[in-house]
Amino acid sequence: MNIKELDKKYVLPTYARGDVEFVSGKNARLMDADGKEYIDFTSGIGVVSVGHANDRVNAAICKQISEITHTSNLYHIAAQASAAQKIVEASGYDMQCFFGNSGAEANEGAIKIARKYGEKDGEIKRYKIITLQHSFHGRTITTVKATGQASMHNYFGPFPDGFVYADTMSDIEGLLDDHTCAVMIELVQGEGGVQPQDKAEVKALEKLLKSKGVLLIVDEVQTGAYRTGEFLASNVYDITPDIVTLAKGIGGGVPIGVVMTSLKDVLTAGDHGSTFGGNFLSTAATCEVLDILKEYKDSGNLEYITKYFNEVLDGFFKANKELFTQKVGIGLMCGLRVKDADTLSAILNAAKENGVMVLKAGKNTLRFLPPLTITKEEIDEGFTSLNRAISSL
Ligand SMILES: Cc1ncc(COP(=O)(O)O)c(C=O)c1O
Repeated sequence: MNIKELDKKYVLPTYARGDVEFVSGKNARLMDADGKEYIDFTSGIGVVSVGHANDRVNAAICKQISEITHTSNLYHIAAQASAAQKIVEASGYDMQCFFGNSGAEANEGAIKIARKYGEKDGEIKRYKIITLQHSFHGRTITTVKATGQASMHNYFGPFPDGFVYADTMSDIEGLLDDHTCAVMIELVQGEGGVQPQDKAEVKALEKLLKSKGVLLIVDEVQTGAYRTGEFLASNVYDITPDIVTLAKGIGGGVPIGVVMTSLKDVLTAGDHGSTFGGNFLSTAATCEVLDILKEYKDSGNLEYITKYFNEVLDGFFKANKELFTQKVGIGLMCGLRVKDADTLSAILNAAKENGVMVLKAGKNTLRFLPPLTITKEEIDEGFTSLNRAISSL
């Protein structure tokens, strides 16, 4: 049986997979099983932040696994402590970290912290968490319910109670009540359509929540790890959340999720845990990814390539106004609104045929999440292929 047949026979069909099998990669380049090359403007949905087959990350992983891979969280893990230090220092916040294995798990941790915080003081149990329409927070039963998209709430019930959805940021205030413990938002909604929040509204929300003792949780699973120009989008928006979640880009490809919080005494021994979370393998890789990205940011290279990518994308948008209605996003989390969903799916197919991988977000957004280390040459090559794809429509 070939891979396609094996996949069909043995893997549950939860993904509508594209018919391509990548076998290797280098930075923003991918190669498929037939030897065809592609430019990758997806980085594995925002994961491969330092590119495919990064030499430094590979060396760090090889060194770590040649010594020790896993012991459990019952004992000290040097790489975990270092990764936590690097994450906290990069954020600029006074926080501590808990390590899991995915974005959804990080958000589960955030919800548990908020719920325990809401239960600890006072007579009224505060459990309500407000999230936004079009948000995306994960695929576990609780994070599906936290996700403000009705289509995600088909089947799987009964769900955990206590999630309330605000249509817009300005509707949040009207939904706060004595039972509310937290508000959870993405500063740039990723899966919802690369939709940035308004900075003044976010600052006003932060102030409102602080005055009411309601926690602000920022889901940075997609926006974190310098995707929007600073370590966190919260840094770009100049706010201080109570809880931040991270995953995707901080591991560069190894499964990792982090919930970090300034509420250091809410969770105590036995409240939360993970067998794999923060093991030697994932945190050694994360330490190296964070070192690379910090050097890249400090040298000015991240800003340089972000500007270049956005200039080229802007030119592409302006040259194809009959297809695209708006350019959206921040940093290297970018999108083009496509005039309709059918045109978007035609573009995605033509892009793949022409050797450039791009993503869909929401109903009608063409999404770009390139590796942060993408080169000028890779950007030029990717847009040459994309132009060819557009001409073929
Ligand atoms: C903002 C956000 N939160 C949570 C998740 C879930 O992350 P994971 O798939 O690692 O569980 C995602 C994944 O796309 C995301 O974009």
